[in-house]
Amino acid sequence: MRFQRLLQMRRLATSASASATLMRAPKQTTHHSTMGTSLSVRTMAGSGAAIPELTQITDNVQRGNYATLNDADVAHFEKLLGTNHVLTEDLEGYNICFLKRIRGNSKLVLKPGNTEEVAAIMRYCNERKLAVVPQGGNTGLVGGSVPICDEIVLSLQRLNKVLSVDEVTGIAIVESGCILENFDQRARDVGLTVPLDLGAKASCHIGGNVSTNAGGVRVVRYGNLHGSVLGVEAVLANGQVLDLMSNFKKDNTGYHMKHLFIGSEGTLGVITKLSMLCPHSSKAVNVAFIGLNSFDDVLKTFVSAKRNLGEILSSCELIDERALNTALQQFKFLNAPISGFPFYMLIETSGSNGDHDEEKINQFIGDGMERGEIQDGTVTGDPGKVQEIWKIREMVPLGLIEKSFCFKYDISLPLRDFYSIVDVMRERCGSLATIVCGYGHLGDSNLHLNVSCDEFNDEIYKRVEPFVYEYTSKLKGSISAEHGIGFLKKDYLHYSKNSVAIDWMRDMKKLLDPNGILNPYKVLN
Ligand code: FAD
Ligand code: MLT
Ligand code: ZN
Repeated sequence: MRFQRLLQMRRLATSASASATLMRAPKQTTHHSTMGTSLSVRTMAGSGAAIPELTQITDNVQRGNYATLNDADVAHFEKLLGTNHVLTEDLEGYNICFLKRIRGNSKLVLKPGNTEEVAAIMRYCNERKLAVVPQGGNTGLVGGSVPICDEIVLSLQRLNKVLSVDEVTGIAIVESGCILENFDQRARDVGLTVPLDLGAKASCHIGGNVSTNAGGVRVVRYGNLHGSVLGVEAVLANGQVLDLMSNFKKDNTGYHMKHLFIGSEGTLGVITKLSMLCPHSSKAVNVAFIGLNSFDDVLKTFVSAKRNLGEILSSCELIDERALNTALQQFKFLNAPISGFPFYMLIETSGSNGDHDEEKINQFIGDGMERGEIQDGTVTGDPGKVQEIWKIREMVPLGLIEKSFCFKYDISLPLRDFYSIVDVMRERCGSLATIVCGYGHLGDSNLHLNVSCDEFNDEIYKRVEPFVYEYTSKLKGSISAEHGIGFLKKDYLHYSKNSVAIDWMRDMKKLLDPNGILNPYKVLN
């Protein structure tokens, strides 16, 4: 009987915890010579393979009309920042994107230590017409954070301080280069939490998160960063410091300019500081990991979660069996509590009363099982086990990236059509693809469609793109739900924005960066 199965739901064994480092730093790899057609060497399979060819060559990028860096420029920056903070060697980690798909050829990395230094760098670069790419943790997945040609990399790594966390107002002021996990830890020290959580938290910067308007796994609870970020300080392309810091949720004085910097991917300004509204961390967190037989059951379970868990629902994620199995094969330390289902959901509740929340989530699962929508699963409120379950979800993208070359999409789709594109794509790619899978933030209608193959291959690329964008556009979805446009999707922006909107974007770019030195070749064509 199904209720008996509920009672038998396995609690997670306290196994050797998943202690592997979640994020990998860009590996220092050796160059290899270009061979074959440009497309076939433009990307590589898996993380262990050789580095990609220069993107300027593979994608035939016409270098913008920028000045070329010279010795006097380097000497200027050394005087400004000190020689330790001006790098001219071993720059591969800054030139290659996380996916190892995009590779630039910057000869200079600058590491300013405060806003004034960022401003001085931008003023100089604007006068000299030197192009600049702002870089945070370099975990972006659309090639936005690395140079395409020889842009100077402006690394925000040293702007890493949490300046204040006010436990009364919940407002934190933080420099943009602070690693998300460190920021969250500081907030937790006073009973608060950063309302953003994502698998790259150990490496990504809060400034990178804001610049990409990163989503992550708790948007269903806290909304996106346009709501949580109260203010930003940004350095414009000409070196002016735009102070849009605010300590209030409500501030209707003039145009809401901070929003321009949230999600503009370093093309309009360099974020140096921001204030964020941090909610109280929840006393009771429960996580259920459940198996389901069909996507129809997934939708029913989501509706039931919203109806029955209501205010305590804090995350609702989907993982299909191929995505899960790839992660499990790649990372043996992961413990999946259940197996053998086509779909899995991770449902989290966060509240202030453990007994109440536990009762609610158990009831929700029991009812779902009785209706035959939920097949099996586990539920836990033990913090160590909660983390173990989250680790499974967090390792899914890394499993796919580690295993082979992966075309990655993050699209918003109407819920009823959420998963169908995975089946359609599997059919389209046939044996050319090794894995076609879907996972993501079901609670926000955000699907991560991934298509894997042994290595970049033009034939499969053409089967996938632009089809995936056409399909999404026909359903009035968004071609980028959270990762942004960067370099990889700039040719497809028109699938989600009409020409009037794109012209406006261009006008704004011209206004804020007339010389086009900030993150060129990204977002706009
Ligand atoms: P970078 O990659 O360094 O830069 C991203 C963009 O922001 C670039 O265009 C860059 O120029 C610009 N930028 C960076 N810092 C600044 C600044 N201070 N001022 C102006 N521009 C700046 N994304 C999600 O949305 N949700 C997820 O759940 C998610 N999960 C991920 C899981 C994994 C394992 C990985 C590898 C990535 C994931 N991402 C996710 C993508 C990525 O982590 C996010 O986009 C993140 O916000 C990027 O932050 P970063 O500091 O690494 O920025
Ligand atoms: C995630 O939700 O895991 C991230 O956005 C990364 C990905 O798309 O793989
Ligand atoms: Zn995501």
